[in-house]
Amino acid sequence: MEVERHSRLYYVEAASEISDIEFDALMHELEEIEAQYPELVTPDSPTQRVGGTPLQGFETVEHEVPMLSIDNTYNDGELRAFDERVRRGLGGEEPVYVVELKIDGVAITLRYGSGVLVRAATRGDGTRGDNVTENVRTIRSLPLRLEGDCPPLIEVRGEVYMRREELHRINRTREEEGEPPLANPRNATAGTLKSLDPKQVARRRLDVLVYDVAPLVGSMPMSHWETLDALRRYGLPISLHSARCSNIDDVIAACARWDTKRSELPYEIDGMVVKVDSAEQRRRLGATAKSPRWVIAYKFPAQVVRTKLRAITVQVGKSGILTPVAEMEPAPLAGTVVKRASLYNFEDLARKDLRVGDTVELQKAGEIIPQVIRYVPEERPQDARPFQIPEACPVCHGKVHKDIDGAFLRCLNIACPAQIKGRIEFFASRAAMDIEGLGPALIDQLVEKALVRDPADLYVLDTTALAQLERMGEKSAANLVAAIEASKVRPLSRVIAGLGIRHIGERIAEVLAGHFETMEHVMAASVEELQFVEEIGPVVAASIRDFVDTFENRALVEKLRERGVNMREERSGAADGPRPFAGKTFVVTGTLHNVSRDEIHERIKRLGGRPASSVSAKTDYVVAGENAGSKLDKARKLNVAVLTEDEFDALAGGSA
Ligand code: IVH
Repeated sequence: MEVERHSRLYYVEAASEISDIEFDALMHELEEIEAQYPELVTPDSPTQRVGGTPLQGFETVEHEVPMLSIDNTYNDGELRAFDERVRRGLGGEEPVYVVELKIDGVAITLRYGSGVLVRAATRGDGTRGDNVTENVRTIRSLPLRLEGDCPPLIEVRGEVYMRREELHRINRTREEEGEPPLANPRNATAGTLKSLDPKQVARRRLDVLVYDVAPLVGSMPMSHWETLDALRRYGLPISLHSARCSNIDDVIAACARWDTKRSELPYEIDGMVVKVDSAEQRRRLGATAKSPRWVIAYKFPAQVVRTKLRAITVQVGKSGILTPVAEMEPAPLAGTVVKRASLYNFEDLARKDLRVGDTVELQKAGEIIPQVIRYVPEERPQDARPFQIPEACPVCHGKVHKDIDGAFLRCLNIACPAQIKGRIEFFASRAAMDIEGLGPALIDQLVEKALVRDPADLYVLDTTALAQLERMGEKSAANLVAAIEASKVRPLSRVIAGLGIRHIGERIAEVLAGHFETMEHVMAASVEELQFVEEIGPVVAASIRDFVDTFENRALVEKLRERGVNMREERSGAADGPRPFAGKTFVVTGTLHNVSRDEIHERIKRLGGRPASSVSAKTDYVVAGENAGSKLDKARKLNVAVLTEDEFDALAGGSA
């Protein structure tokens, strides 16, 4: 199928033949066809990747061929000892080894029947795992249908993982939404795979690499190398970094090479896996109760440093979450000097029993985020006292409350200076109102001098007051006032994003602004109306209502409005340009040639119009690109005006 082929080219082979927009258009078209003819929807259709309905729990799956674990080695000597055991087991024969990256993710077993993915399960305890098929289907680099001469029934094994970049993306969003960051890609992968909401899973990009076949039925290739090649021919993603080595010296060299090169990979590896290549030799070597004798893992030495824990401070975020932070004597670790590390939450801190004065061991999770692993018992000072979990907010001394899941403590005082600072910093940040020159140090002063208590207070600051502050002259004060003034005309989506509503990041803010057009409409929407909007689920809808139902929040919005902040989406960008499309709704469908989908949407908005995703009697125009599908048909049926791209350009008056 065309869409599947492009999907594979894009995600598996990283060699698209078509642009993202064209791919989206193809996907769209398929969705439209399937909506019209539901009987044509097959389990391997690319549309099935978007994630189905939430699950109640996971079904248990029995592994017919157990998923064994493997023994670990940590140095060259242990690798040589493995090689000697293998050679002894083979009566002196010299084996060929395949050396592979040990991807730091979650093991998965994938069953394909008649070439179609029918079941995916986690390893569990090795004999029984969870059926996570729905979630695995959302992984775009995994083919839902195999190609070529694949056997009628095959079970493939591999590792589901998350790229570093994706973890960063998720953590950026979480930060924006006031959620604590995910510590490393493996935890993020495991958490995502175990999510009961496949739609949630589809929003996080997971990847997979396969490295083995479980011997079920039929004949197996003669060697592991051939197995990998067969997997590749079936269209499955395999690592391109596997190597064949004819002796243990080459194996050791390959392991050492990857230890230094691992940071160049887009994902985490925690070592290498060394496997005997020949299937016949593997049979002769067999397995112990725990693991096969023909395979061994070589674990990279984790970079660990020791340093002194000077203090444990408690930070209060914009939504009031209290986070303990380890303050340490600066220590060099994997390329940077580390002196602070988040301790995530008080449960974690209590489990690790860290005490001020301890010598602690530090490592980097995901090679980026510094983490305190443990304290060194032999070095604990006699007088080290357990950390006292705060009973009040360290900043405002107000009440703290334990979150339902127990891990987080929250300051309940919305007037807490730490929360105020956090909220103003957030409001002024790049993702929101983008007020240049309004950084944390300045915000600290503004809040401490009681010049600002909420974001709306920024709009009445004057140069005289600002010029009194430290490191502020007349000129920078004037610049800041101008920057604050300029932010008044930011699009509504930025204002919404700036309010710091839980779970509402940039993207959802845009969706809300695009749909409701005015702040008034957003605030008036019921949970049902909110959920009706594409991309908005029950959690987000409830969070918006909670926000709006709080008096202080409504007052803040009112204050912003009174002080001249834009509260309508239409004025976005060009408040005074021509607005020939005012009040008109446009649906764009098919493949465009002149501009991208995003660009045309932007242009419609700039000229006062509203881009929508589905055609109804209320649609004013449908802009139909090439291969427009059912939306075009519907437009014709409903007598909605249809424009070609060029006609649209003419109507827009060339006003790009
Ligand atoms: S082979 C019987 N190959 O590492 C052999 N495992 O510590 C099965 N892993 O549970 C495993 N990359 O989740 C193999 N190239 C690779 C691997 C790999 C990552 C994981 C796998 C396994 C764990 C063992």
